[in-house]
Amino acid sequence: MIFDMRALGAGDRYKIIGACITPRPIAWVTSQAADGSLNLSPFSFFNALGSDPPIIALGLVAHTEKRLKDTAANIRETGEFVVNLVGESSAEAMNLTSIDAPPEIDEIALADLLMVPSIAVAPPRVAEAPASFECVVRHYLETGVNQVAILAEVLHAHVGDEFLLDRERIHIDVPAMKLVSRLHGAGWYGRQTDKFEMLRPAWSDVVAAGGAEAFAAQRTGA
Ligand SMILES: Cc1cc2nc3c(=O)[nH]c(=O)nc-3n(C[C@H](O)[C@H](O)[C@H](O)COP(=O)(O)O)c2cc1C
Repeated sequence: MIFDMRALGAGDRYKIIGACITPRPIAWVTSQAADGSLNLSPFSFFNALGSDPPIIALGLVAHTEKRLKDTAANIRETGEFVVNLVGESSAEAMNLTSIDAPPEIDEIALADLLMVPSIAVAPPRVAEAPASFECVVRHYLETGVNQVAILAEVLHAHVGDEFLLDRERIHIDVPAMKLVSRLHGAGWYGRQTDKFEMLRPAWSDVVAAGGAEAFAAQRTGA
């Protein structure tokens, strides 16, 4: 079946994007308004886009009240935010902070979370997050009505000491972080426990096999 995305309603478009582009990591974003009020909300339209400099991307769709989300408004105003990664033990608290509470409600207090000051940006980080990234905005793009895409540079990366297997070589114990991801539907999440290893192929193996045709025959047993 072919879906003409421009002919669909917003809800149906979301269903297709949300079901097919999975799993998505979750950025649990701390932002601060100019008046100092804090906001913490999860966003799964999130990924790494570069490492030199380290660039991450966030996608924020319009609020159901057809306005800009508070997180987007704060980031546009201040140009900075913190991405906290979500461990399994924080999943419920993360979900709670996505609640459709009125703007004056403090979701951080609601989820009973301890915050720790950041080094280079005003918004604090979530103490229990396995890793947090202090970010400054490089590009703020309006991609729709009250929908934005934000490209930001990571200035400081905080990784819990307990997850560093080797500090010198920066070997991180990824399984121990138990990061959760967003899957399909209204409420499905994933763990990183069902995985397989596949090393990148080397062209020298193809040459050693006698060329592309011979390599393909060898690989498929033809
Ligand atoms: C796991 C999860 C992922 C979410 N991902 C997104 C997203 O990528 N973009 C978005 O606009 N909203 C996303 N939401 C919804 C926002 O978290 C929600 O609208 C939140 O209330 C926004 O708060 P704010 O208006 O205070 O910024 C997600 C919610 C959950 C629970």
